Amino acid sequence: MARFLITDYDYPDIELERELFVEAGVEMRAAQCRTEDEVIAASEGCDGLLVQYAPVNAEVFAARPEIRIASRYGAGFDTIDTEDARSHGVWVANSPDYGVGEVATHALGMALALLRHLAIYDRDVKAGKWHYTSPGPIRRVSGMTLGILGLGRIGKRMAHLGRNCFQRVIACDPYIIDGDFPAYVGRVSLEDLFREADVVSLHVPLTDETRGIVNARLFDMAKPGAVLVNTARGAVVKVDDALSALDSGGLDGAAFDVLPQEPIPAGHPLLAHRRVLLTPHAAFYSVEAEQELRRKAAQNLIDWARTGRPRYVVVEGRTGTGI
Ligand code: NAI
Repeated sequence: MARFLITDYDYPDIELERELFVEAGVEMRAAQCRTEDEVIAASEGCDGLLVQYAPVNAEVFAARPEIRIASRYGAGFDTIDTEDARSHGVWVANSPDYGVGEVATHALGMALALLRHLAIYDRDVKAGKWHYTSPGPIRRVSGMTLGILGLGRIGKRMAHLGRNCFQRVIACDPYIIDGDFPAYVGRVSLEDLFREADVVSLHVPLTDETRGIVNARLFDMAKPGAVLVNTARGAVVKVDDALSALDSGGLDGAAFDVLPQEPIPAGHPLLAHRRVLLTPHAAFYSVEAEQELRRKAAQNLIDWARTGRPRYVVVEGRTGTGI
């Protein structure tokens, strides 16, 4: 019988996974691991891991050669070191398509909230200040340009939603051929994205190339009044540079659903910033999306146990099943 470990989870319970695994005739264990050592301690004798945020890398694979597959609760899979998995013949799987609409609507909501100063109005009204100019001037959104970095599943949905609110949609994605750019999306370089967009919305994965890619160099060329929205991964943005740009006027506002360190540490300067909007890595969330995410991530392990292959493959591992 195959045995799987849920390395960590922040869901209220794991009944959905338990039911799926029982029905499939596989054994399930669960832990709340935060470090490689905790994953190693909890995964003895396990064929596969179901991972939320726990680090899974060469240290784990070397200590536990019995692990043959790691499936991530999520579309992003940067918590699992894919190169280490490849070199140890471990399958990596994810759940890429459960929350495309949720993340895109969250990003659009953040963009519009920044441009319409909704959070500032809310705070001002509750503090007894009732005037339409309390946050400063607001410009007409239907005359603005929406800029998208990373025109994949979520970026494309964002473009589709945004085209009805904004005058123009532009995007930078060097890995997509022209034919895969929708006709209404203008193709631009990274620099022109920042020069021309009133909103820059980030939808790239976290990779060696994208880590810190959004930094002071780009904020210095940003269009006056521009705002930044990050629902991708925290480390894509150099947050200190974003704070300096907010203070110097290089950026008019910024919204972060994701941060380099989550949860945000108490006393972080972003918490007190009037023109910053924060959500707690919640862009993926709806009741329906969360269930789909958990079902698909668990099903990867069951499919592998039955057929030797998960449905959503990120890294091809050694062939043969764990049963
Ligand atoms: P995807 O893989 O479909 O699209 C990513 C796109 O980024 C691809 O088209 C790729 O060519 C492009 N890209 C890669 N490197 C680039 C670069 N240097 N410059 C410009 N473009 C580049 O991924 P999907 O599903 O659209 O998700 C995007 C990211 O959103 C995920 O990797 C994940 O980190 C994040 N995410 C965040 C969630 C949240 O709750 N905040 C939930 C789900 C995903």
